[in-house]
Amino acid sequence: MDILAELRSRFGSAIAAFATEDDSFLSMIRPAQDARFGDFQANMAMPLAKLLSKPPREVASEIVSRLDVADLCDSPEVAGPGFINLRVRADRLAQETSRLVADKRLGVVPVAEPRTVVVDFSSPNVAKPMHVGHLRSTVIGDALVRVYRFLGHRAISDNHIGDWGTQFGMILYGYKHLLDRESFEREPVAELSRLYRLVNQLSEYHTARAELPELERRIAAAEEDIASFEAALDPKDKDAKKRLGKLRNELTALREEQQFSEAKRDAIEHNLDLKALADAHPKIAVEARLETAKLHSGDPDNTELWRRFLPACLDALHRVYDRLGVTFDEELGESYYQPLLASVVDELASKGLASESDGATCVFNEGFTAPFIVRKADGAFLYATTDLATIKYRIEQWQAQAMLYVVDKRQSDHFEQLFVTAHRWGYDDVVFKHVSFGTILGDDKKPFKTRSGDTVGLESLLDEAVERAYRIVSEGDDAKPDGPELPEEERCRIAEIVGLGGIKYADLKHNRDSDYVFSWDKMLSTTGDTATYMQYAYARVNGIARRGGVDAAELRAHDATVSLDAPEERALALQLNRFAEAIDGVVRDDRPNVLTDYLFSLAGAFTSFYDKCPVLKAETAELRRSRLVLCDLTARTIAKGLNLLGIAVSERM
Ligand code: ARG
Repeated sequence: MDILAELRSRFGSAIAAFATEDDSFLSMIRPAQDARFGDFQANMAMPLAKLLSKPPREVASEIVSRLDVADLCDSPEVAGPGFINLRVRADRLAQETSRLVADKRLGVVPVAEPRTVVVDFSSPNVAKPMHVGHLRSTVIGDALVRVYRFLGHRAISDNHIGDWGTQFGMILYGYKHLLDRESFEREPVAELSRLYRLVNQLSEYHTARAELPELERRIAAAEEDIASFEAALDPKDKDAKKRLGKLRNELTALREEQQFSEAKRDAIEHNLDLKALADAHPKIAVEARLETAKLHSGDPDNTELWRRFLPACLDALHRVYDRLGVTFDEELGESYYQPLLASVVDELASKGLASESDGATCVFNEGFTAPFIVRKADGAFLYATTDLATIKYRIEQWQAQAMLYVVDKRQSDHFEQLFVTAHRWGYDDVVFKHVSFGTILGDDKKPFKTRSGDTVGLESLLDEAVERAYRIVSEGDDAKPDGPELPEEERCRIAEIVGLGGIKYADLKHNRDSDYVFSWDKMLSTTGDTATYMQYAYARVNGIARRGGVDAAELRAHDATVSLDAPEERALALQLNRFAEAIDGVVRDDRPNVLTDYLFSLAGAFTSFYDKCPVLKAETAELRRSRLVLCDLTARTIAKGLNLLGIAVSERM
């Protein structure tokens, strides 16, 4: 049973009399911070009191008198300014814990109304390097799919691969003019990725050179403005000071842009070979765009090359997915929707949603300054058009009721406009959500880059994680009091689990909105909030069972009675009973870190329990059995929780 959910429903009836159906009051029932005050605390008396103009303690007592929880809790206590403290009854907690033992789903009840949820995640751009941002999308998206499915929803995982974008123009241009045939034959994807980066770098060089004089002019003008502003500044005029600050910021931004462009210019000019290439390809940016346009308009040569490149690129991506244990139900790339785009634009126009503006076809949404462009003046369709076609397809073909887009937060403007447009288009009963996430940063606080900055680099990142994990696993094994236990191949197998688990967990445990700094030491630490810590806890429990010659199946098969007299036993049992609450918390706002937080507290409760309460050497046989049951239930919950995050465990470590 989800105790918190149950309490919320009981409080719902108790506060109904105050004539409010506001959910926000019920969300004010939370797990208590300090176990001395109980297990849960309800804080709605204070805001309700304001609403009713009554003393909060009085309101709290009134709520308590209407509250029917006698079967669940000891008598609720009103404390301080009007907190209601609740402590789960000992007999009830023991009974609920026994129930968990017999429940394969560990207390998580499938939803009454399953929904069809499309989770759009990973979605890298082929031929362009897949970077750590796509990795984070992959890890978060996969976890969400697993949790939705476990709850009984029909979750469709869809890898919306960017296989049609402008990057192909760059590759086509590169292939035609800059190819190293030998390395293409040997390693096509690495060569294509090199071509992409080269063409991109050369185009940016020309752009930077073209833009620098204008930038210099603007900087000089800004400097002049500031100087004359300063000369005339009245130090008491606050507004003027503010305006000066703004001018200075603008100047700083211009200077940064200048530095950026100069760096792009210098990277080429300081390298004779690159400089020669740049000089030989002065119109590279325009011509690469032309290659894209030719591909999009069905040019046979470019289509043929595209068909040749794609499988190799997809293979490289699948190597990463296989290694991560991530699969997709669908992998309909952007190219799949091309035949539908013209009709999407027509439909939007005929519904009066899209209109011409400077030759382009645009949707103008209220509250947005920029139009949502669905067809450019030259006839080309855009990312937006493809996303609209995709929405229609998913709803018509799969009867999607919700669509989650696990994409970098830098795309939030795009998704806001997309969702508004889709609603106006008529899909107003579908839930659209941008499950946005922050950037992974390097030590220098700049976006983290793998060494070679491409898909190959991503694979070597995974390799490095596994290598580092191997060292940790080996050191741990070597340090065992009775000598090492793990044969070499077992160490390698565990290193893979620990290494990949470490990377995934780091992506999941940080609140998805926040950026975080990539750190090997933190992510593989055996003591902190890491997968490694949880995996060790799991292995430790298995070790106890092994040493005690315990048959886990037998423990689970019989009606388990647990004794929760020690405070650590009680605290552990309470945590075990909160698994359903955590799972529910994940889907409430699509935040896997609710589950990692839960697992971390669970592992902590287990550690305290294990420190204080002898298991194999418990005073009586009943107590030994009861504690073994708690151990086993902990192991099952950790394994299931990690499994829902896409992270494996090992019986031994
Ligand atoms: N390919 C895009 C990128 O790498 C992400 C696509 C996200 N999904 C979508 N339906 N727009 O930036």
